[in-house]
Amino acid sequence: MNGLPMTVPSATGLPPRVRIHEVGARDGLQNEKTAVPTEVKAEFIHRLAAAGLTTVEATSFVHPKWVPQLADAEQLFPLLSDVPAELPVLVPNERGLDRALALGATRIAVFGSATETFAARNLNRTVAESLAMFEPVVARAKAAGAHVRGYLSMCFGDPWEGAVPVPQVVRTAKALLDLGCDELSLGDTIGVATPGHVQALLGELNAAGVATGRIGVHFHDTYGQALSNTLAALQHGVTTVDASAGGLGGCPYAKSATGNLATEDLVWMLDGLGIETGVDLAALTATSVWMAERLGRPSPSRTVRALSHKE
Ligand code: HMG
Ligand code: MG
Repeated sequence: MNGLPMTVPSATGLPPRVRIHEVGARDGLQNEKTAVPTEVKAEFIHRLAAAGLTTVEATSFVHPKWVPQLADAEQLFPLLSDVPAELPVLVPNERGLDRALALGATRIAVFGSATETFAARNLNRTVAESLAMFEPVVARAKAAGAHVRGYLSMCFGDPWEGAVPVPQVVRTAKALLDLGCDELSLGDTIGVATPGHVQALLGELNAAGVATGRIGVHFHDTYGQALSNTLAALQHGVTTVDASAGGLGGCPYAKSATGNLATEDLVWMLDGLGIETGVDLAALTATSVWMAERLGRPSPSRTVRALSHKE
């Protein structure tokens, strides 16, 4: 192999193009034991955009004590003004929105939970209280012309509550969208989903009136199912896929979560299927190798390891 997958024309029913929502700088770095220097984060994000990623989630305007790894959001965001990509940021409440808007953020994401336990642990709120917290955030962000993503965590399984019933997920997803979110990202926070479960949830969301075009998928790879789950979602018509360069990631408030689906693993599959992403796999892999050196450990991505393997 020469670093490119063999392209076999796309199986019927798959989309011709996928938008990758890159989360490595946020979902990845929020989970590092030590805070990565701000300048390294800025270079990482520049390199991700230079590799062709058009949506690069940059940081979170959350309470700095809750996620100290991202406490430098005010310092980082101004260093990104020349990045040729959309730069969404996570915002849990009005305080976070004020901070993000003050720096000129134009895409924000609120992040809810399908389960009560994770809502309490991640947001210090019940599910209903967190939706009430998001309501003015979404309204004000929309009034300011920002694009709003609504993340929903624990859409498949929850480490404390076990399997999460599909109707419970659909109900919370609808409530998030009803606040005015432009898109919904279905989070498999601890990576326990399997493809049939993914298709069942997508089908029930459609039945409840949620169009597939508004849905993105966000798979963590704990059980090695993230790519299979992604393919199931693509077969259903989903065209927005979250992934993290090098497979960085996890969630500090869900200890069993490992990294996200690695962007390189995703691009390898999509390239092979002839599905366009605009991403240069070699440049992306070089970026993840560079980041792994900064973090002092190899990337968990199989594709990064294969492509950077030296005899
Ligand atoms: P709280 O302790 O309930 O906060 O935390 P509060 O509303 O009671 O406020 C307490 C103090 O914090 C106040 O200060 C606020 O001003 C301040 P005081 O008046 O006492 O001096 N404060 C803030 N300061 C800066 N920025 C803010 C902010 N908010 C309040 N935004 C809170 C509630 C939501 C703030 C907290 O729980 C929090 O920050 N949680 C964030 C947790 C997080 O970021 N988790 C990881 C992201 S989610 C994820 O990774 C999952 C995802 O990837 C999808 C998937 O995989 O499923 C998205
Ligand atoms: Mg996540």
